[in-house]
Order: sequence, then C-alpha cells, then structure tokens
Amino acid sequence: MFDRVWLNAHLATMNDGGLGLIEDGAVAARGGQIAWVGPRAALPGPAAETIDCHGAWILPGLIDCHTHLVFGGDRADEFERRLAGEDYAAILAAGGGILSTVRATRAASESALIATAMPRLNALLAEGVTTVEIKSGYGLEQEAELRQLRAARRLGAARPVSVVTTLLAAHAVPPEYKGRSADYAKLVAEEILPAARHLADAVDVFHDPLAFNDAETRLVLDAARRLRLPVKLHGDQHGDVGSAALGASYGALSVDHLEHANAAGLAAMGRAGTTAVLLPGATYFLREATKPGIAAMREAGVRMALSTDLNPGSSPARSLLLMLNLGCTLFRLTVAEALRGVTVNAAAALGLGDRGRLAPGLRCDLALFRIARPAELCYWIGGNPCIGRVLEGIAHA
Ligand code: NIG
Ligand code: FE
Repeated sequence: MFDRVWLNAHLATMNDGGLGLIEDGAVAARGGQIAWVGPRAALPGPAAETIDCHGAWILPGLIDCHTHLVFGGDRADEFERRLAGEDYAAILAAGGGILSTVRATRAASESALIATAMPRLNALLAEGVTTVEIKSGYGLEQEAELRQLRAARRLGAARPVSVVTTLLAAHAVPPEYKGRSADYAKLVAEEILPAARHLADAVDVFHDPLAFNDAETRLVLDAARRLRLPVKLHGDQHGDVGSAALGASYGALSVDHLEHANAAGLAAMGRAGTTAVLLPGATYFLREATKPGIAAMREAGVRMALSTDLNPGSSPARSLLLMLNLGCTLFRLTVAEALRGVTVNAAAALGLGDRGRLAPGLRCDLALFRIARPAELCYWIGGNPCIGRVLEGIAHA
C-alpha cells in the first residue's frame, strides 16, 4: 500500500544517462520517498490517495545549485553605469560592485535579509525548484557571513524547500584588508571558517584574476578539508587561472563558471568526478564573449549542471527555466543536457545522492508541468508552465 500515487502523467525520470522518458507513467510515494516509478499499466498496488495529473509531465523537483540569493540592496545603478560604458572589473577595483553589496548586506539585519530574499526564493519555487543552494559572501567579516548563512537556513525553514548553505567568505577582499588579500584568506581559514562550520554544508572560494590566487585559495580549501567540509570553486570566470585543475586536485564537488578553463583542467575534472556548474546568466549579463568549453567537457565526460547564479551583480536571474533556454541558446546544450543540469547533475554538484532522479528510494521531490514535451521547458522564453511541486511526498502550491 502506497501513501500517494500520481497517475495520468508522463515522466522524465533522468535515469539511464538521458531523460529516461516514460509516457503514461505513475509515481508512488511512501514515507516521503519514491516507492515505485514506471508505466501506469504495471503499477503494483493501491494507494491511500490518487492524484490525476491530467496528462502533465513530472520531473524530479528542480535543483538550483548555485545562488547568492541572500543580500542587501541591489545593483540596478551599476547596471546603468555599465550600460553607459563602465566596466565590471573597474567598478569592483574602485570599491563598488561586490563591495557595494557588502556595504548593504552588512547594514541589513537578519530579518531584513530574509524579507528581501523571500520573493526571490518564491520566484524559484513557483517554477518547480525543490532544492536551492544559498551562499554567503557579501559579509566578508565573521558576524555578517554567519548572519547570511542563518538567514539562508531560516528561509529553508519558512518555506517548503530544501536549502543547502555554502560559506563563500573568500568572495572578495573586504575594504579593511585592501592590498592584504593573503591576510584576509588567513582570517577566513583560521577564524571565519571554524566559526561557520555548523551553518555551512560546503565551502567555496572565488579563484579568479579578480579575486583570490592559488596560495590564498589553497589556504581556505585546506582549512575546509581539515573540518571535513566539501569544497567548490568559482573558477576561471574572468581568465584562465587553472581553477579546473585545482578544483579537481581537491576532489571539489564542483567548479562553477569555467568560461576560460583549459582543456587539461576540464579533463582532470572528468577524472575526479568534479561537476561543472554552468552559469549562462552571468555570461549573458556581463556580455562575456568567451563561453565555457562544452565540447571539451563532453569529451572529458564532465558532468554538467546549470544554475541561475542569482546575485545582484553578474546575474540577477530569478528564473531557472530561463537558464534552461540560455544554456541551450548560448552554450548549445542539448535539451537532455540542460534538463539533467537542473536535476541529477545539480544534485551531484551539491553532493546529494538522495535526489535529482525519479527512482525508488530517493526523496519524493517532484515538479509538475503543463507541457506537451520536455523540450518546451528549454524552448519558451518567459512564462511558467509549472502547475505543482511535491516535497518529500507532500504537494505544495
Ligand atoms: O558568481 N563571480 C563572482 N561572484 C558572483 C558575482 C558577484 C557580484 O557581482 O555581486 C558570480 O558571478
Ligand atoms: Fe556565483
């Protein structure tokens, strides 16, 4: 006997390396987990409750595996300055950019951070997201970094969504440490990271020509390793600094961005099982001409995930569905690559083996869409065909 069964639906299970399509399928849940998936005609037993999906498509609940959705203020003014010809890197070097968001975030209380993040989170949930990763990185001092992580955890308690937190204290050099980035990296490694260990599920570093170098990055990654926290990198975004190879050598869960990554580094990621997180919103919004090497990733068997990078500066993207379209149009991903990128491969980028596919024993997190075929999720620009979400077997609006 199942708790609940969803019938009269088509399934994109993400099993067997592709979309794993089952037309006229059924999903059954018991105790918050998927108990059975398959063609409706083969459904083995009765259920306490039956839900008629009227021909909708069911996917695993979508996973947005890279966001900075907790922050103070916004950067619409900076957007206007960039439209007038100013440069992202130059604005940051002059104390704006990320650092202007740091000022606004430091000035915000925990409840103010939650209040401004809530509509952004709700926009993601409305499209079928059931798991979201949220980074710190706009505090750049212990108390403000912890406040961001606490706000992220409280958002997850307030709404039906699974929130995964990442400490990104090494996101930029704070003004107090201007010209002393190594000292700041040491502070992150020795003080902020140990203080944040119970609020963070992973540790991230911005390893980039605009941020932290090899030695500074290693200092933070080594500290994370000592505390047994998984690591990831923002890497090779504004230039090739070898982030792909560095991430692979640390067994990172993921290296994200990768616009300028070299082929040898990508091959190392393939061997290490490190996921590439593609962020087409940032490529688009910064009008970056260099695209990540998708062909080299395919060649090296690198798992590819796809995410919003929701943040105020480089990707103010509140739609994961829009990223599916950008991933296909800008990076030439296939529909299967894009959809696996927001499900099974996004789960891998977070080290979560309990979700991302429709299979017995996994969490019963589902997203229901009123579409005729899965390609529509990548095809439309704007609009929202999501008609329901299920979290651990329970339906939510
Ligand atoms: O993921 N790349 C670094 N960090 C963010 C952007 C941060 C910002 O501009 O506020 C990113 O793109
Ligand atoms: Fe980011």
